[in-house]
Amino acid sequence: MTDHFALGLGALLLLLLSTSCFSSELDVQCLRDVQKSVIDPNGILKSSWIFDNGTAGFICKFTGVECWHPDENRVLALRLSNLGLQGPFPKGLKNCTSMTGLDLSSNNFTGAIPSDIEQQVPYLTSLDLSYNGFSGGIPILIYNITYLNTLNLQHNQLSGEIPGQLSALARLQVFNVADNRLSGTIPSSLRNFSVSNFAGNEGLCGPPLGDCQASAKSKSTAAIIGAVIGVVVVVIIGAIVVFFCLRRIPAKKKAKDEDDNKWAKSIKGTKTIKASH
Ligand SMILES: *[C@@H]1O[C@H](CO)[C@@H](O)[C@H](O)[C@H]1NC(C)=O
Ligand SMILES: *[C@@H]1O[C@H](CO)[C@@H](O)[C@H](O)[C@H]1NC(C)=O
Ligand SMILES: *[C@@H]1O[C@H](CO)[C@@H](O)[C@H](O)[C@H]1NC(C)=O
Ligand SMILES: *[C@@H]1O[C@H](CO)[C@@H](O)[C@H](O)[C@H]1NC(C)=O
Ligand SMILES: *[C@@H]1O[C@H](CO)[C@@H](O)[C@H](O)[C@H]1NC(C)=O
Repeated sequence: MTDHFALGLGALLLLLLSTSCFSSELDVQCLRDVQKSVIDPNGILKSSWIFDNGTAGFICKFTGVECWHPDENRVLALRLSNLGLQGPFPKGLKNCTSMTGLDLSSNNFTGAIPSDIEQQVPYLTSLDLSYNGFSGGIPILIYNITYLNTLNLQHNQLSGEIPGQLSALARLQVFNVADNRLSGTIPSSLRNFSVSNFAGNEGLCGPPLGDCQASAKSKSTAAIIGAVIGVVVVVIIGAIVVFFCLRRIPAKKKAKDEDDNKWAKSIKGTKTIKASH
């Protein structure tokens, strides 16, 4: 009986050990791939992320790497804010299988946020991509990062509409898309976030911003004002032209009168011809 118990315990321990080893190998691979895929002009990752020491927890001393436990190679969060990093959204994050935080803010990342982001970082509670150059749309499948409570996309080049599916993010506490190029109506589930979280998107409307019809109306008002100004300008130019022409008329008046007479006569002529038919 005790033998069985010991055997079971041993097997369990072995299993735990092997899975934790396996997962930490993956985490190391994740960081290798991130380092490889990111452009690092200041050499910060290059100088700090050195992989030739394989001791347990060695990655936890890397710049920007937070571990679940200091002597276990298991990434809890990656905080790479303001390191001058460039290039596309980092690759290989999927292998950081227990990562809950990702902060890439205030760098020069560009390109699209991957449309399969929910598969790459499924357990994030916090995603901060603010102050970069990310472009394209907000991926719909962000709504499937179930535990997300912070989503900061402020100050990028994101365009298109805010996906209504984000209403599925039941834990969302922080949401910011200010200073992008977003358009369309703000999903009703997000209207309780304050105005400043949506500001700086010319095409965005609906609560908490102004209502969409008002913004459409103000656009058509602007168009009407523009048309009126256009007409006024044309009238003024016309008046100026007429004014100068009138000043010139006395010199040519006689010749013009003769022309007019000829023309009048020719009309009369045709009329009489017509009448005689
Ligand atoms: C590996 O890293 C650990 C923890 O940072 C350190 O204590 C150890 O001296 C390092 N070993 C080598 C060979 O660099
Ligand atoms: C991003 O790059 C531009 C030039 O390409 C540079 O002026 C700017 O300082 C960079 N921003 C950051 C946060 O590194
Ligand atoms: C995860 O790591 C393995 C090697 O350990 C690698 O073959 C695979 O491509 C990595 N996955 C991703 C998504 O990078
Ligand atoms: C989220 O993704 C998982 C796995 O990819 C899938 O099984 C699940 O149905 C998705 N959840 C929603 C709400 O779509
Ligand atoms: C927004 O706030 C109001 C009042 O606090 C509340 O009644 C409403 O349910 C909230 N709406 C959403 C979508 O959270």
